[in-house]
Amino acid sequence: MAKSKASRSGRSAQQPEAEAPSSDDLERARARVDELTRQIRRHDDLYYAKDAPEISDAEYDALVRELAAVETAHPELLSPDSPTQRVGGRPVEGLVSVEHRQPMLSLANTYSREEVLEWLESITAYLGGDDPLRFSIEPKLDGVALEIVYEQGELVRAVTRGDGKVGDDVTHNVVTIRSVPRRLKTKKPPALLEVRGEVIMTHASFRAVNAERDSAGEEPFVNPRNLASGTLKMLDPQQVRKRPLDFVAYGFGATEGFAATSHGEAIATIASWGLPTSGELATLGDIESVLAHYDALQAKRNGLPFDVDGTVIKVDDFALQRRLGVRSKSPRWAIAFKFPAQQVTSVVERIEIQVGRTGALTPKAVIRPVYVGGVTVENVTLHNKDEIERLGVKVGARVLVERAGDVIPKIVAVTEAGDGEPFAMPERCPVCGTPVVDDEEEVVVRCPNPLCPAVFKRRLEHFVSRGALDIEGMGSKLIESLCETGLVRRLSDVFALEKEALAALPRMGELSAQNVLDGVEAAKTRSFARFLYALGIRHVGETVAALVADRWTSLDALRAVTADALQDVAAIGPAVAESLLGWLADEREQADVDRMLALGLAPTAPVVARAGEGVLAGRSFLFTGALAELSRREANELVKAHGGKLLSGVSSNLDVLVVGDKPGSKLKKANELGVQVMTEAEFLELVRGG
Ligand code: IVH
Repeated sequence: MAKSKASRSGRSAQQPEAEAPSSDDLERARARVDELTRQIRRHDDLYYAKDAPEISDAEYDALVRELAAVETAHPELLSPDSPTQRVGGRPVEGLVSVEHRQPMLSLANTYSREEVLEWLESITAYLGGDDPLRFSIEPKLDGVALEIVYEQGELVRAVTRGDGKVGDDVTHNVVTIRSVPRRLKTKKPPALLEVRGEVIMTHASFRAVNAERDSAGEEPFVNPRNLASGTLKMLDPQQVRKRPLDFVAYGFGATEGFAATSHGEAIATIASWGLPTSGELATLGDIESVLAHYDALQAKRNGLPFDVDGTVIKVDDFALQRRLGVRSKSPRWAIAFKFPAQQVTSVVERIEIQVGRTGALTPKAVIRPVYVGGVTVENVTLHNKDEIERLGVKVGARVLVERAGDVIPKIVAVTEAGDGEPFAMPERCPVCGTPVVDDEEEVVVRCPNPLCPAVFKRRLEHFVSRGALDIEGMGSKLIESLCETGLVRRLSDVFALEKEALAALPRMGELSAQNVLDGVEAAKTRSFARFLYALGIRHVGETVAALVADRWTSLDALRAVTADALQDVAAIGPAVAESLLGWLADEREQADVDRMLALGLAPTAPVVARAGEGVLAGRSFLFTGALAELSRREANELVKAHGGKLLSGVSSNLDVLVVGDKPGSKLKKANELGVQVMTEAEFLELVRGG
């Protein structure tokens, strides 16, 4: 679906020499330019707004090419808002930071009607209770926030939200978005118009991009939002063009000479100027109608060409918006009323067993693919046999699948049992045939064979993954071939890979091979903490690895550790100590690490703020739940970089628990102990503000 654009190179070569065209010629050319412009705009609209293209990409390109040719022959006919002017964004070396004139805020949000009514009550009280309120309600698009700045009607800049105050200049990419006008379609544009909206990727484009990635042997993107977000920040617009983005305007930053007095009116005005809007906005005079509109939008949610995760209700009148003003992070005049987690039914086609990095056998249901909560779900893990029994999942069962936001999909219930056999855990590892061991305490069944190929493959995947050694170019398909061909049989083999052998693997070649080798080279000097984590020692996750590496900063130091010394570190529990000591005593593991060292591996000692320095100095932190902005690794590194300490569990020694989504038992315990609790946003404000 990605539309390639007509090349404009060679334009000056075609420039006519001296001869001026006759006025007849010029008139004919003008008519042709108008006609081609009209046609291209119409096809843009069919393609983007209506999702119903009438011509092929090649035919579209031919129209653009013809227009470019006429404009080349008659430069006086070239207007700045010609469709040909969209082509030509140049790659940039890095993204430049730009400060927003007005901060880009976020929204208070809720899933409940009661809270919407409470919001209404609170703003009515705030205003004194006398003003009749009208509301605009529109879809809440699940994409990436963007601000586009128009000066005198010309697009001059496009900036991401960033941290709300400062974003990245992505103008070079935004000019590739066909639905975004370079020039507003009005004779009297405002002196300044900052339009805010969401950059999205339609389902159709998302599927097309993933299909292409799949045939190139690359990992697919998880959902349209992630893809849109990654694409928007690319440096080379040529790449962006292959991943068609779209934009939907829903609000405003600073404006000068923009006369609108209400949200509904302002959106209608900019729509008439050619800016894409959702087309689903309603302006209503009472809250019951607003809630009814929410229900109506929810009902059509699955039929929309893009992901929508709720609605946004806004006080329509700008004067009232100004009177209501903003709190620290969100305006009082708006609230996001989100849709509940999506649930879809499907059928269990089979139940497969996955063998994990620690040998744990995890059953997963392979279901008939369904699109839910922004992704196509085909595999759902079932965690353990107890859960399968509790739910009554078996082959042929009809099940209810749920997925909310970034959360892993799960089966919430069986709606029809089906007539398949009840599921039983296998007695032998499905990969190597070793009899399994039932670990009653952890409700886990394990393959005890450390040489099991499945276990090793998972260990390797973990070893090279982003939070670990982060070896670029080593995706799951390459790992598969490395294991299958026996090029990698133990972790140290990664450092002994040779170009020729790599290049001969399927889908590889010289260039990719070199890319992988560069990645391996870079991985040799990752921090000692990451290296420890990469080894996949049981109970040594990112946090524990960082703690251990803080105290014993090199492999030599760690190898000299005694059981007593380990027990002394309060943050390291007995399970961690036992596992680490076991690993240190394992001759095969140690020999493999020695071989890595001989092959050039040289982990670096952690960089820590000097004792007593940094905004977090003297305080200890722990993270729990799913963080939205940071990975665990980044969060841990931030704590250390700012002089704070990390703890691995909640105790009275803990100063701050930072909670993400679904925090669970740690939050409960922290509350019981009176430990300070912070959201991720508050934590970020603390470190970034300091
Ligand atoms: S208004 C001052 N309207 O949701 C508040 N935001 O959770 C400005 N979003 O950062 C936001 N659709 O990226 C608004 N119709 C809509 C929206 C919308 C999606 C995003 C936006 C914002 C985030 C807040």
